Amino acid sequence: MIDDKKVLFSGMQATGNLTLGNYLGALKNWLTLSDEYECFYSVVDLHSITVRQDPAELRSRARKLLTLYIAAGLDPKKNCIYYQSHVSAHAELSWILNCFTYMGELNRMTQFKDKSAKHADNINAGLFTYPVLMAADILLYQADVVPVGKDQLQHLEITRDIAQRFNAIYGDVFTIPEPYLGKSGAKIMSLQDPTKKMSKSDENVNASIYLMDDKDTIIRKFKRAVTDSDGCVAYNDTQIGIHNLIDIYSACTGKTPEEIVKEFDGKGYGDFKLAVGESVADILMPLQERFHQLEKDKAYIDGIIKENAEKAGYFANKTLRKVQKKVGFPERIR
Ligand code: TRP
Repeated sequence: MIDDKKVLFSGMQATGNLTLGNYLGALKNWLTLSDEYECFYSVVDLHSITVRQDPAELRSRARKLLTLYIAAGLDPKKNCIYYQSHVSAHAELSWILNCFTYMGELNRMTQFKDKSAKHADNINAGLFTYPVLMAADILLYQADVVPVGKDQLQHLEITRDIAQRFNAIYGDVFTIPEPYLGKSGAKIMSLQDPTKKMSKSDENVNASIYLMDDKDTIIRKFKRAVTDSDGCVAYNDTQIGIHNLIDIYSACTGKTPEEIVKEFDGKGYGDFKLAVGESVADILMPLQERFHQLEKDKAYIDGIIKENAEKAGYFANKTLRKVQKKVGFPERIR
């Protein structure tokens, strides 16, 4: 609890181009949570180097992501928006928690298995202990809730296990976090293969709407979206392409799937796809405008970065000092 509010932590990696899926599935949800919770939203750059990165590109993407958090509407005075690498407590707690995590537990992580298959030439120890760093992120702020996608649930589970193990030995040090799964409608699928999630690492650029796509590109991608030969806009489990488009349109306009089906009764996919594309452009164009405006204001963003790193550091160090004391490190001499 901070000032009588429950604490929320979440983070995103600044790798790849953010997609409409990231926005509707995560960022937009974050906005609705920021009144209810004391929120920490991190750009988790320490996690990013588990895979080789071009340094200049990583730096530039990280800044863009942080700016995008603000452009999406997160007030940086109310929400602590910061770079993970600016708060050294993340790395320090991560080391300590490594000593309370078993090889066997980490070996079971499906993301580790997937990523080591994908990057077979660079299966580094950081990739293996990635979930421990994630546990440190969450536990440092005594987070009550963590909004995550389904793919991160296993990491949240191990976070809880580590925290409970630590608490069982040393007393109540860590808050045990709960996952916060957003509304189910917000899971956005690929436009080219609606059985797959829309992903920023998809090689087919037509599969994803990137947040910085211009209007023509957006409309064109929706025109090409894979659907079916039924030819009527209906919301069911067999017309999965149309299902996805309805979800997107619903998330962008606030209309329910039933209302949408009614709206397009008797109309073809062409009309529907155009409407979906326009609804997405109506959301993304203002977002892009705010982003470019903010990006120009270097001093303002720099100020946010500094202020929030200090704020995050204050809370993180409180927990870190407690943990250091519990495990038996000598007290600091002032
Ligand atoms: N691993 C998360 C992802 O790739 C990002 C992340 C890092 C995170 N630390 C976190 C998410 C802590 C939630 C809480 O999506």
